[in-house]
Amino acid sequence: MRAAPYPAGRPRRLRRDGWTRRLVAEHRLCVDDLIWPIFVIEGSGLSVPVAAMPGVDRVTLDRLEGHVAEAARLGIPAVALFPATPAEKKDSEGTEALNPDNLICSAARLLKRAYPGIGLIGDVALDPYTEHGHDGVIRDGYVHNDDTLAVLTRQSVNQAQAGIDVIAPSDMMDGRVGAIRAALDAAGLIDTRIMSYAAKYASAFYGPFRDALGSAKSLQSQQGGGDKTTYQMDPANSDEAMREVEADLREGADMVMVKPGMPYLDIVRRVSERFEVPTFAYQVSGEYSMIVAAVERGWMERERAMLESLLGFKRAGAAGVLSYFAVEAARRLQGAAA
Ligand code: PBG
Repeated sequence: MRAAPYPAGRPRRLRRDGWTRRLVAEHRLCVDDLIWPIFVIEGSGLSVPVAAMPGVDRVTLDRLEGHVAEAARLGIPAVALFPATPAEKKDSEGTEALNPDNLICSAARLLKRAYPGIGLIGDVALDPYTEHGHDGVIRDGYVHNDDTLAVLTRQSVNQAQAGIDVIAPSDMMDGRVGAIRAALDAAGLIDTRIMSYAAKYASAFYGPFRDALGSAKSLQSQQGGGDKTTYQMDPANSDEAMREVEADLREGADMVMVKPGMPYLDIVRRVSERFEVPTFAYQVSGEYSMIVAAVERGWMERERAMLESLLGFKRAGAAGVLSYFAVEAARRLQGAAA
C-alpha cells in the first residue's frame, strides 16, 4: 500500500492532463504486438468478402502479394495463413493437407519470396481439409487422437518445407506438440518454431471463421455431433488450461496461445504469470464481428473499441495478439507515432 488516502491522495491528479496520463500509462500497444490472420481461396482475380466478418476478404493467390503489402509496409511482424479449401478437395482423412502444392503451401512460397522479413504462421489441424469439418480423422464416430497425430506431423513438415516459419497446431489432440517437434527435427527443420494453441476452448466465438472457411456446413452434417467438445476445452475450466500449457511446453512449444481472447483474459493472465513464456491471445472471428456489428449499428466507436480490446490483451500479460483488426490497428498506431 503506497497511495495516501483521500484527501491527501487524489488519484485523479494523474488523470487530469494528457501528458500525465501518457507518463503513467502502464501498457502500450504497438505494431510489434500484432499478428494478422488472412484467408486464401483458390481461383484467380478474386477478393471474396466473408459475410459474417464485414471488412474481411478471402483472396486468391494472384492477389495475395497486394493484400499483404500494407501489412508489410506498416511493419506487422507476422501473418497467419488460413486456406479455404474447395469442397471437391476435401475427404474424410484430410489428404489435401499433405499436398506440397496445396493452397497454404503455395501461399507460403509466394509470401516468402515477396516479403522475406514477415513471419509466416501456419495453422495445423485438419478442419480445412475434411468433409466432416473436424480437426482430426474419425474412427468409429470419434475423432481419433493418435491416427490424427500421424497426419498432423506430416502436415507440419509439408508446411515448413514450403516456408512456413511457425507451426501453430490448433487441433487440441493430446501429444501433438511433441510429435510435431520430433517430425520437424527428423526432417532437419530444427529452427521451425511452434506456437501451440495450448488452451483452446470449444467456443461459439469461432462461428464467423467457420463461415469463412466453409467448415461450418461440414460440421453441421456430422454424425458424431456438430461440435468439437471432445477435444477442445470446456469453457468452465481454468486449471485444465495450466495442464495443457505445461504439457505443450514440455513437449517443445516455443510459444503458447490462449483462444478465444476476450472471454478468456483470466487465462491469459494465469498462463503468462505462471509460465513466463511468450503467451499470445487470439481475438477470434466472433470477437471481431461482435465489435464491428455494434459499430455498424452506431452503438460503439470503432477505433476506440478496437484499440481498447487489443490493449486489454497486453494488460492481461499477452506478448502479442492475433487479430483481424491488425492492419487497421497498425495504421492507427503508426499514424500516432508519426
Ligand atoms: C481450426 C481453427 C479455428 C480457428 C482457428 N483455427 C476454428 C475451429 O477450431 O473451429 C478459429 C479462428 C477464429 O474464429 O477467428 N482448427
